[in-house]
Amino acid sequence: MKHFKYLVSLSGLVLILFQVQVRADIRYPLIPAPVSLKELPGDFLMDQSVRLDIQTNDERVLGSLHWFSEKIKSLTGLDLQQKKGNKRISIVLLKHNEPSLAKEGYHLKISPQNVLLEANGAEGIFYGLQSILQLLPPANKWAIPAAEITDYPRFGWRGLMLDVSRHFFTKDEVKRFIDEMVRYKFNVFHWHLTDDQGWRIEIKQLPELTRHGGFRVHREGAWGSFLPALEYEKATDGGYYTQDDIKEIVQYAAERFVTILPEIDVPGHSLAFISSYPGLNATKKQFSVNAGWRNTPRDDNALDPSNEEVYVKLDMIFTEVAKLFPNPYIHIGGDEAYKVYWEQSSNCKEFMSKNGLKNADELQSYFIKRLVKILESKGKKLIGWDEILQGGLAPEATVMSWRGMQGGIDAAKMNHEVIMTPWDYVYLDLYQGDPSAEPSTYGMCRLTDSYRFEPVPEGIDEKLILGGQGNLWTESVPTFRHLEYMLWPRSMALAEVYWSPKQSRNWPGFFERLESEFTKLDIADINYARSCYDVVVIPVQESGQSVSLTMTTEAPNLDIYYTFDETNPDLHASKYNGETLYFPPGSSNLKVVSYRGNKPIGKQLKLSKEELTKRSLQQHHVY
Ligand code: ACM
Repeated sequence: MKHFKYLVSLSGLVLILFQVQVRADIRYPLIPAPVSLKELPGDFLMDQSVRLDIQTNDERVLGSLHWFSEKIKSLTGLDLQQKKGNKRISIVLLKHNEPSLAKEGYHLKISPQNVLLEANGAEGIFYGLQSILQLLPPANKWAIPAAEITDYPRFGWRGLMLDVSRHFFTKDEVKRFIDEMVRYKFNVFHWHLTDDQGWRIEIKQLPELTRHGGFRVHREGAWGSFLPALEYEKATDGGYYTQDDIKEIVQYAAERFVTILPEIDVPGHSLAFISSYPGLNATKKQFSVNAGWRNTPRDDNALDPSNEEVYVKLDMIFTEVAKLFPNPYIHIGGDEAYKVYWEQSSNCKEFMSKNGLKNADELQSYFIKRLVKILESKGKKLIGWDEILQGGLAPEATVMSWRGMQGGIDAAKMNHEVIMTPWDYVYLDLYQGDPSAEPSTYGMCRLTDSYRFEPVPEGIDEKLILGGQGNLWTESVPTFRHLEYMLWPRSMALAEVYWSPKQSRNWPGFFERLESEFTKLDIADINYARSCYDVVVIPVQESGQSVSLTMTTEAPNLDIYYTFDETNPDLHASKYNGETLYFPPGSSNLKVVSYRGNKPIGKQLKLSKEELTKRSLQQHHVY
């Protein structure tokens, strides 16, 4: 989502960061919550006498155990591969397939004497090992609480998308992204490899795509406001993955039971492609690789569906992409194609009349159907964003629904497979707290929005909903540190949505486990947002010019203190008790902060009457 209708302007900002005390005493801090967990007394102490007891020769299990042992060694210094110890962590592949566990489930029995991990296959063992790691307390006394756990996922498709076009992330950063996602049992890495701002995958038959299309001029600041490239300015920002890099990452992901879904975004979002091989758009206008500017009139960044050369080049691209990625699916984008230049082009008009296509939507549908055929010839199936429904959905296509749920509902009603990624629940590039205290972006998707997401709409066959994703677009994400901030903790909420049984959703319970996880992220130096501790101010337009306010917090059981007299609130200021507030005569600003007990815990917000009035009038509320 790039051209969002309602941008949020920033009001005054006061940002005070406090050291926050979090509770780390949750005994079973598993995220996502397992299907069933029987709490038992006692702990399995991880010490010198613990060893792995491996009852399988399965290569993939052995690989996971190597990975697990290394992790344990780096956390605790203990060597699980030693042979002498009398306390065992036994790893067993079940001889008789247990249907309830399916491919990814596991049984985990932890007693003070030993740990038994059983599964049908290597995936289940891997997820059981992740659960053991999560049960390890943050430091020093490595006591895993006794329990009996049975666990398996609700959905087989549990994805996270990363846009590496708007900002490039290195091979090592991509690996780190994968490492972080598997802790929460995600299993699909959707890799958005191409867009207007950079082409990131080496295509040997089309070297200009990366030599030229992989780089743009340097711009820093607020995305969307930048000046276009000057005539002699060098394109120095960016990068790309060689095919060897891609193979390495595919292998790395596979060892962690992650499938990579590559996305080549066409026919829109193709400026880097068009800039590298001019003449492929309807206007035949040449452009620089976009560095975050918005031109008027709009750049013609869409491939021309009436131009055969477009299909010749796409065939070359998908031939190489198909060989690099074992995934049966390839994502072809299909979103936000700007069709006005098609409607104006004599070539397109002639092509449409020759092929009996009534309008630009049908021209787009023609293009997508050609891609289905191209992918089929490489043994692959097509996934596209929900705009591929426009003009008639290609048979066999799978729909990734992002503009809401409706595209997914329409596709499922036609018996197509669907992956649900509606922006208001899963777009990780949006604000996750009050816009006045967050890095600039657009729209709103709070942690609680992600946590209450239900991927299966009423009346739709659950079997057609493969699962869902969190999508991280990176227009305003220039660093890996900020990437983490946007990813966590919202993706933990989504991990629970996609893995855990629907009926086990429990916000206060999740929040306790989340705070325990925060402590571990601090130790691991993984960045995450604490915006869920901030106050949520809800403005409502009253008759006349006045605005009324109510306030809440996402984190349970916090106190809210506020002022209208310009002083900074603390626990001696007015305490909010759920009433409706109005700006007192003469006052211009609300200042508000959250406390847990006698300690401030959220950022202090300063919101002007003007800003809150403006928000109250917005059709889509952003608060
Ligand atoms: C999208 O956000 N344009 C898929």
